[in-house]
Amino acid sequence: MNGPNLGFLGQRQPEIYGTLGMDALPDLVARLLGENARRIRLTEFQSNSEGALIDRLEEAWKERVDGIVLNAGAYTHTSLALADCLAWIKIPCVEVHLSNVHARSSHLRHTSLVAKHCLGAIAGFGVMSYALAVQALWQHLSQQ
Ligand code: DQA
Repeated sequence: MNGPNLGFLGQRQPEIYGTLGMDALPDLVARLLGENARRIRLTEFQSNSEGALIDRLEEAWKERVDGIVLNAGAYTHTSLALADCLAWIKIPCVEVHLSNVHARSSHLRHTSLVAKHCLGAIAGFGVMSYALAVQALWQHLSQQ
């Protein structure tokens, strides 16, 4: 799930966010998960709107989705509403970022309101961050 300004990956500031788009994700996941990649179904959602992201998280709860990979973009650092939603739906979630937010110059990017409600976070590997998060979720769910 991608938040605001993540609809043009590969084109938005490639020097920060990389040159790959979300279409690269299935191959990266297949590389990491091998045969197991066939056993998972990835669906993608992107919105620039905080409310639409919360609506989609609530839908995921209704659909009993197994896990979420979330790049909330700038809402990571500001949205108590998104954090509140993750707190109650309790779907295993991995926070991801394309860039290494902790190495960015703006200190505002060093905090995450959603982190507390996630299993962990992966940042700094471009679209590979999402694939690594899918792998982490797979391993987490396989151990349940
Ligand atoms: C981002 C980092 C955020 O600080 C920023 O607002 C984004 C993208 C990332 O993937 O590196 O929009 O989440």
